[in-house]
Amino acid sequence: MMNTTAASQIETAPWINEAWEQTVKKVLRTSSRIGAEFPHASQGGTYVLEAPHWWTAGFWPGLLWLLHEGEGNANLPFRQIAEECERKLDEVLDGYDRLDHDIGFMWLLTSVINYKLNGAEGSRRRALKAANYLMGRFNLKGNFIRAWNPWSEGEDNSGWAIIDCAMNVPLLQWASRETGDPRYSHVAEAHMGTVLNHFIRTDGSVRHIVRFDSQSGEVAEYIGGQGFGPESAWSRGTAWALYGLTLAAKHTGRQEFLDAAKRVSHFFLSQLSEDSVPVWDFRAPEETKVLRDSSAGACAACGLLLLAELVPSAEASSYSSAGERILKSLYQNYGSFDQDEEEGLILHGTSHYPERKNMDVPLIYGDYFFVEGLARLRGGVTIPWE
Ligand code: GLY
Repeated sequence: MMNTTAASQIETAPWINEAWEQTVKKVLRTSSRIGAEFPHASQGGTYVLEAPHWWTAGFWPGLLWLLHEGEGNANLPFRQIAEECERKLDEVLDGYDRLDHDIGFMWLLTSVINYKLNGAEGSRRRALKAANYLMGRFNLKGNFIRAWNPWSEGEDNSGWAIIDCAMNVPLLQWASRETGDPRYSHVAEAHMGTVLNHFIRTDGSVRHIVRFDSQSGEVAEYIGGQGFGPESAWSRGTAWALYGLTLAAKHTGRQEFLDAAKRVSHFFLSQLSEDSVPVWDFRAPEETKVLRDSSAGACAACGLLLLAELVPSAEASSYSSAGERILKSLYQNYGSFDQDEEEGLILHGTSHYPERKNMDVPLIYGDYFFVEGLARLRGGVTIPWE
């Protein structure tokens, strides 16, 4: 089912190289202020830095690795900063008791990519340790990877599973390939089977949180999470599912994952308006739909470009051109490249509407997926999730 030439057949349009050059220029500037820290959301033009245990800690070093390789390992500070971020994450891996499903986001974009590019033995060890933590969160009765640990004393969230985890299980697929031990991929595949059965609706829209009874494994409740409500369609969750299912199709070769990825992508694309960038939740009240989530657009675009490589060649161009269209709009209509005082690359992301946090701002994962999308369009760069 592989059609590996689909994305590479897109001629590198001038806007792609221009966007890449602008990105390198801007990140060179911002990296001297941010350094080996962990930015999340840009407020008033400046990235707010988070503690290293925050789930977004991998995206800045991940973005720097993409630029490092894409620039031909040029003599730029990107690798050094990314490696320092990875070392700083050791205190989280070894000394933090709230590690959760987001382990994949954190160590795929730091240790796995460092190991893939440079064969760094310490990075391999860190990534395998992280994979073991992730696998240990698997609930055998419900076939899901548990999301978080209790947030407060006495809270029982042992049955919570969330769609974001679809982007974390590639860490398990990597660990299986690396060690030759199929247990990791068994768990990844079982979790993605649960995504298929309980998160993806018939129309291709996606739930954010499903609560299972952690003893029996039965579905207990659907929870709105970062979306407007249990029956709404949070756009970033839709993007996590689109890309996560596409990766699952690539890793397992299973047709049902590919079919589901297509179903989710058709839903996602059907919801876009003329500028091809999603609103924060496709089924939110109209008055809130002024808020976009550019990060969902960037993540979905990467998934669509990979999907184009997996479908029969007659179908490929519809997915690759949709991916390119979204990225082009992000660059031309949402890019901050003419704003020297803004550290974020892509404006108008929405992190958490229900908590009214980080709305209408650049988000580091939006920036990361925008750069990954450009790297995919240009070719020749190692993609951590694959
Ligand atoms: N829960 C992580 C996110 O904002 O997508």
